[in-house]
Amino acid sequence: MSTILALPKKLVGKVVVITGGASGIGACTALLFCQHGAKVVVADIQGELGAAVCSEIGDSASFIHCDVTVEDDIRRTVDHAVSKFGGLDVMFNNAGIAGPADKRSITQYEKADFERVMAVNVVGPFLGTKHAARAMMARARRGSIVSMASVAAVCAGIAPHAYACSKHGVVGLTRNAAAELGRYGVRVNCISAATLATPLATRFMGCTTEELEAAADAKANLKGVTLKTEDIARAVLFLASDDARFISGHNLIVDGGITAVNPNFDWFKTET
Ligand SMILES: NC(=O)c1ccc[n+]([C@@H]2O[C@H](COP(=O)([O-])OP(=O)(O)OC[C@H]3O[C@@H](n4cnc5c(N)ncnc54)[C@H](O)[C@@H]3O)[C@@H](O)[C@H]2O)c1
Repeated sequence: MSTILALPKKLVGKVVVITGGASGIGACTALLFCQHGAKVVVADIQGELGAAVCSEIGDSASFIHCDVTVEDDIRRTVDHAVSKFGGLDVMFNNAGIAGPADKRSITQYEKADFERVMAVNVVGPFLGTKHAARAMMARARRGSIVSMASVAAVCAGIAPHAYACSKHGVVGLTRNAAAELGRYGVRVNCISAATLATPLATRFMGCTTEELEAAADAKANLKGVTLKTEDIARAVLFLASDDARFISGHNLIVDGGITAVNPNFDWFKTET
């Protein structure tokens, strides 16, 4: 992580909750945020991994078991941040699941699988936004809420139905919450990332990190750069910090331009 240490520190004294902070994008963001002076509560269902992330960080981090689909867990998590670190400045609604990969057609997709994906990926951010807003409105008339969406909310046909619906839901929740919470000084944004190698993605694709990155690089619009968790963590840092102090209701697409381009219309193909 030392390679992504970027001074000056952008979150000195800020208190942050990161759901799904035990792994992948969430764990990377927890480490980056602490390097920027934040106190971080890592909230996850994976206890051992979450505790390992916190012990790597030290006293500035605290793990709490939290299932984002359970309102009492989210309430306890936000209250834990307030009582342990003195408030809540940033909520990162990051926990998510992909759902099953084997049944692609809508005619095969099970209702229970659809509901589980919606519970974690949409109800989770709803509860996170609700309780973060409660804490932020009570305190300082400021705050930043960031949720993880996906390029599946920008472009059709690249993910299962439940996942695509859930990430559209995250964008809708973000925009509507921004409409309400702006009057309290609370900014609400989300990030739509392209595919990157994390346990979620490699498990879903049934491949190694190297295989996933090679496949993503082959399809990428932006050549010569492989999307990493650090790239997403830096985008979250931007939206969480005062660098983005007038940005709210925004879906920040971090995809190297792939969803802006339709490869069927390649005007530039002949120019090398
Ligand atoms: N990896 C990608 O290609 C990609 C692309 C776009 C968006 N995203 C989104 O980024 C977010 C983070 O995913 P990741 O790729 O880092 O995956 P990951 O599996 O490494 O991390 C997800 C974390 O969420 C936790 N989690 C799952 N269900 C939970 C629940 N009910 N309560 C609390 N925690 C729970 C997991 O334990 C895990 O630690 C997700 O919302 C995902 O949809 C990922």
